[in-house]
Amino acid sequence: MEFTHVEGDLAKTLITEQELHDKLEELARQIEDDYEGLDLLLVGVLRGAVMVMADLSRTLNRHIEMDWMAVSSYGSGTVSSGVVRILKDLDTDLTGRHVLIVEDIIDSGLTLSWLKANLESRGAASVEICTMLRKPEALKVQVDVKYCGFDIPNEFVIGYGLDYAEQYRNLRGIAVLAPHVYN
Ligand code: PRP
Repeated sequence: MEFTHVEGDLAKTLITEQELHDKLEELARQIEDDYEGLDLLLVGVLRGAVMVMADLSRTLNRHIEMDWMAVSSYGSGTVSSGVVRILKDLDTDLTGRHVLIVEDIIDSGLTLSWLKANLESRGAASVEICTMLRKPEALKVQVDVKYCGFDIPNEFVIGYGLDYAEQYRNLRGIAVLAPHVYN
């Protein structure tokens, strides 16, 4: 879906599809260098990371494996609750694996700091994080992020996997949601 189809719901557009894809090329080249000669397991966090995972994995010019987890932190509101639950676990044994967690956004950091520690405790050789977006002003806990696409202001953003009440995930770019939509 293009921005123009939901223009009235958007306070402003933030990142275009082209900018997202340019950034993924840049991140992919870094990842190829850093993991040269090593196996690589991409772990996508459902549901928001589906778009980043699909595009990043295809941008990487090397073999990768993919697995998925589903965790819950937000409910259907706009503010992080800090409560992390595993809704779907990995099917892959992480022993000795190099794991790269692929995320759409780090907001408070609560989900990712918990998830990184959880995956490390399973005997992985390494666990790093790649996120398309990060909100530095919203961080409540320190999270070590190896690959970050864009630092963005602390506003409610949607698109490219990010939802409000399960909608807008299929927007091609990223935009700030107009307050009248959720007030
Ligand atoms: C989002 C995002 C991260 C988490 C980040 O997922 O994909 O997993 O919130 O927030 P935090 O840094 O404050 O912990 P969400 O719970 O909205 O689920 P979804 O991916 O299914 O939309």
